[in-house]
Amino acid sequence: MRKALSAGLLLALPLFASPNEELMKKGYEVFKKSCSACHVEYMSHDEIREIRRRVLKGETPPIKAPPMNEVALRVKHFYPEEEDFIEFVKDYITEPMREKGVCMPMAFKLFGVMPPIGKGLTEEEKEAVAYWMYHRYEGSWEEMIKKFHGHGKGKGKGKGRMMREEED
Ligand code: HEC
Repeated sequence: MRKALSAGLLLALPLFASPNEELMKKGYEVFKKSCSACHVEYMSHDEIREIRRRVLKGETPPIKAPPMNEVALRVKHFYPEEEDFIEFVKDYITEPMREKGVCMPMAFKLFGVMPPIGKGLTEEEKEAVAYWMYHRYEGSWEEMIKKFHGHGKGKGKGKGRMMREEED
């Protein structure tokens, strides 16, 4: 098992600069089938900020999980290497646990821990969706935070308060 997996990763390596199209396609299919019911594929900074604002006011969030772009950049912040990222995602979706999770505390508070969706997927499907997550999104968590802080009136003072408080 372990051996087959590393062979899979090695095959993808020569194409590192431009992601393997077939894996990307496969990963996206898995996403649509098994993840998109809860994770939207992409949500803009403005939309995410608006939801946070409403949630702070006590409203129920209109989504069931953090958007995938946010999740992917957050996980990449903790697991920057492709191989570690893929390992983490595969493991997490199969056996999610608060202690393992790197999502912000607010995500767990709002949505609870993710169900073990990966248990219903094959190794290949998990590998593909994790690969897709790694390559689908540009930018970094740091850039995303900066955009939150630097946005809007008041020169960012007090903006992103929620994000900062949660970073511990
Ligand atoms: C039933 C809803 C649901 C589905 C379906 C779902 N997720 Fe999630 N996911 C969540 C929630 C809620 C969180 C935030 C709490 C957490 O991290 O456990 C989350 C968080 C995550 C995280 C971040 C984990 C962390 O905290 O570090 C990853 C990675 C992830 N999901 C991947 C996936 C992938 C890949 C799929 C599809 C194969 C998927 N999810 C399907 C609800 C879902």
